[in-house]
Amino acid sequence: MPNIVVVGTQWGDEGKGKVVDILTPHLNVVVRYAGGNNAGHTVVVGKEKYVLHTIPSGILHAGCRCVIGCGVVIDPGSLIEEMESLVQRGVTLDGNLFISKNAHLIMPYHPVLDRASEAKLGARRIGTTGKGVGPAYIDKAGRRGIRMSDLLDERLLRQKVEDNLAVKNRILREIYDAQSFTVEEILNPYLRYAGWLAPYITDTALLLSKWIDAGYQVLFEGAQATMLDVDHGTYPYVTSSNTTAGGASTGTGVPPTRINGVLGVAKAYTTRVGEGPFPSEMQGKLAETIRARGNEYGSTTGRPRRCGWFDAVVLRYAVRINGIDTIALTKLDVLDQCETIKVCTGYRYRGDLITDFPEDETSLATAEPVYEELSGWMTPTTGAKLESDLPPKARRYLERLEELTGVPFCMISTGPQRDETILCEDSPLLRWFPSVRSSLL
Ligand code: IMP
Repeated sequence: MPNIVVVGTQWGDEGKGKVVDILTPHLNVVVRYAGGNNAGHTVVVGKEKYVLHTIPSGILHAGCRCVIGCGVVIDPGSLIEEMESLVQRGVTLDGNLFISKNAHLIMPYHPVLDRASEAKLGARRIGTTGKGVGPAYIDKAGRRGIRMSDLLDERLLRQKVEDNLAVKNRILREIYDAQSFTVEEILNPYLRYAGWLAPYITDTALLLSKWIDAGYQVLFEGAQATMLDVDHGTYPYVTSSNTTAGGASTGTGVPPTRINGVLGVAKAYTTRVGEGPFPSEMQGKLAETIRARGNEYGSTTGRPRRCGWFDAVVLRYAVRINGIDTIALTKLDVLDQCETIKVCTGYRYRGDLITDFPEDETSLATAEPVYEELSGWMTPTTGAKLESDLPPKARRYLERLEELTGVPFCMISTGPQRDETILCEDSPLLRWFPSVRSSLL
């Protein structure tokens, strides 16, 4: 039974939520392995739109078990809000949601530190979501983080909050001139949250191991994306976790030998929220047009996303770093009205042509994109059921992207609805989940 990772290949917001939502009926467990409520996974089911921040999108399917792994950082207030809104809309959480006891908590001082640190950086800010994700991972790596299991032990929780505040309050006041906290201000709400969350907190690594032994099929749902990975992304303009496929193992406790495949999700163009290098970025009116057509505004912060052409250098890098077997390409329809479409095939740096992604800040900052131009199809693609229904120029675009990335496409998405999806023949996806074919046709 294949267990697969679904990972973003660009700078996030590729449409992973929709892909996971399509695959969920064909598997038993969906597990989030990194990030926190900085993520926003949008799933449209009929007329209903769900934006999930911490809970895996598999929760929208009755009977799918959803796990928040140890690699995730959890803001309990925000998680409970999300849980309540799902319950109000008829989603059953009991018996379907499991939270790792080792996942770290985002504490009230983390968002304050996040925003204060950004303000201090000024023009060199990262452009974070301000949710406290970076500071929570800093505490995790610094071995002073507070974990879900600590919520269940009041004495230990109090001790850890006191120890943290002794240092954090000084940093907040003396370095950032920001608000400080009392122990009770934190413990009162967090002990209430503990009561709410206790039934869901468990040893999820053990559960996952038992489920895999029993033949359950597990999907590892990535958050953010390859270029935001703390080790492999455009550092320092990244998030603070391992968003790439390797994180699926450390972020859940499932060993690499039990993961069988990796599906990458890429947009037919590129977007990025926040600061940092973006070689194929579009400027001016063109960027505005794509932003409007693609509704490119952050689902967590509402910020306008920067837009750019498809960057094959980034995609090849994502294929290599994640070991991607197949790609789901999303939002093809957003390009329907473009007369000409550019694809970035390499970068020019100090007179040389580079085709492998340069990881260092300096080359990236000055690398100039080298483009190939294809003519647009100027015809709606939404509603196409088969690749052969697509206009020939759209098929040519897809073929060229497959050539440049070196892996076959498995799905082409032409709209937000589940059925606005084309399944590609001869992709590993249909070998992994043969029943997807009948559910989409
Ligand atoms: P942080 O994760 O809030 O620390 O933000 C670090 C960087 O990651 C910023 O550029 C954010 O805009 C970006 N980022 C974080 N989460 C997402 C996401 O879900 N989609 C796209 N960008 C994100």
